[in-house]
Amino acid sequence: MKFVDVAGVDDIPPGKTRHVEAEGIEIVLANVAGKIYAVSERCGHMNAPLSKGTLYDHIITCPLHHATFDVRTGKMITGMVEHSLPDLDKAPKETQEEYKAIGMLAKGIRIHDLQSFPVKVGGKRIYVKV
Ligand code: FES
Repeated sequence: MKFVDVAGVDDIPPGKTRHVEAEGIEIVLANVAGKIYAVSERCGHMNAPLSKGTLYDHIITCPLHHATFDVRTGKMITGMVEHSLPDLDKAPKETQEEYKAIGMLAKGIRIHDLQSFPVKVGGKRIYVKV
């Protein structure tokens, strides 16, 4: 394992995230009050890109089913949230049943913690150990 230069410090303002790659590994960097953390870019549920989600303090929320993770540790905080489509009851019966079946499948998929990566800042650059 080695530290890899992945971004500039100024590329990630406080409260923001950024998708980077190091040695082919997809990572999301998160700036929590000036401290940079690095976890897997892919959600531990169904691989949605977490950099497209939202960061609030140290909690990143998946854009697909809204599971939440602590970017300081990679640990899952809360599981997925079931969606409901407006006017689903007006859709054809087959569409309603298919949507419910997909929801049941998604609910049955275990959500794993995210891999967390060591970070160091040198000068104006961010390095992640992979
Ligand atoms: S893909 Fe992230 S919660 Fe489902």
